[in-house]
Amino acid sequence: MEFDIEQTDELLSTTRAVRLRLDLERDVPDDLLLRCIELAEQAPTGAGVSSRRWLVIRDQETKSRLAELYRAAGGSRMIDRSQERGKPEDLQERVADSAAHLAANLEKVPVLVLATIWGVHDGSGRPGLFDSVIQAAWSFCLALRARGLGSAWTTLHLGKAKEFAELLGIPDGVTQVVLLPVAWTIGTDFKPASRRNTSEIVWFDRWGYTKENPGEVSSLIAAAPGVTVEIDIAASPERVWELASDINISARFSDEFQGADWIDGDGPSVGASFRGRNERADANRVWETTSYVVECEPSRVFAWNVNDRDQPSAQWRFELEKIPSGTRLRQRLIIGPSLSATGRAMEANPDQAQQILTSRREQHRGNMILNLQGIKRLAEADA
Ligand SMILES: Cc1cc2nc3c(=O)[nH]c(=O)nc-3n(C[C@H](O)[C@H](O)[C@H](O)COP(=O)(O)O)c2cc1C
Repeated sequence: MEFDIEQTDELLSTTRAVRLRLDLERDVPDDLLLRCIELAEQAPTGAGVSSRRWLVIRDQETKSRLAELYRAAGGSRMIDRSQERGKPEDLQERVADSAAHLAANLEKVPVLVLATIWGVHDGSGRPGLFDSVIQAAWSFCLALRARGLGSAWTTLHLGKAKEFAELLGIPDGVTQVVLLPVAWTIGTDFKPASRRNTSEIVWFDRWGYTKENPGEVSSLIAAAPGVTVEIDIAASPERVWELASDINISARFSDEFQGADWIDGDGPSVGASFRGRNERADANRVWETTSYVVECEPSRVFAWNVNDRDQPSAQWRFELEKIPSGTRLRQRLIIGPSLSATGRAMEANPDQAQQILTSRREQHRGNMILNLQGIKRLAEADA
């Protein structure tokens, strides 16, 4: 049997958290739910033991008490914030409003499904506990979506897991993993979410090794190899930006980069260029490069191309992402498309091309890590 790939991909990419478009009026029959659970039970199970248990809750009084607990665990705070904020201004606020809507209406959703598993995590990392239920619960969500139903992955209630257990009679030794409110969806068209490109989050062979053009197999350089390093910093994006957008910051931490001067202008802006000085003691090399700022969005992105704006020999990029604990800073290098000394050495020694590339990547990675650690120290010192 051949799958309809288009439909399958549509299912996988549009099974979203549905909260505002849950039909609170239409009942969801048990046999439909049981069929979805039956399908979900096909998910892998640690040690082949059937340990998942599913609670299907429709009793109105029970749902109302669970909804109270959900609100006590944080839902009420969401509702208050949403009311105080007024009209949402960005995606995060829209998601928060949608979560608040669910918190306010949880008892009205026709069915609540609680996925649980026999066992308590002992921190040993052994397989067979959460990792035996999460994949099944997600299959359940996919099976729902294929039938015109929807849900939202919720875990807020886990702050009140003990109270949930008392109310539902869940014995000790059972772990609750996810609460899935289930209803028919209002309309069935949903859009894929915005996610990072795979080239930004997939590492090839070693942590942080990227390929910009993975389909390009004519040469290692044509695949546009790169290195990405990331660090979480307990400081605001604004503070991290001050450091990351300073073209001399890396010179304080890197073994290779010695410093830079603006050629035109005196600060980062698209179109500005700067001259950088580099030194590699191991290769007895000192050289200079001209770099062109190609992206500059304060507190978000600072990127420059080396040697040529359009056909650079290297592309460097800082990205700042606001996260709950502060800022995730990532530094990205893509080698090419023009040949640098590394690319020329690879071309001249095709038998050793892989080795030359790996060794250069390791040098870059080492310096990039020193650089991000240095920025973290500075940013956190005065955060
Ligand atoms: C581990 C985890 C826990 C979550 N907990 C809640 C929750 O308690 N309440 C809620 O409304 N949504 C919860 N969500 C849903 C996310 O907020 C959801 O992914 C977000 O709304 C974005 O929707 P999308 O993934 O469909 O784009 C949770 C998601 C995950 C992965």
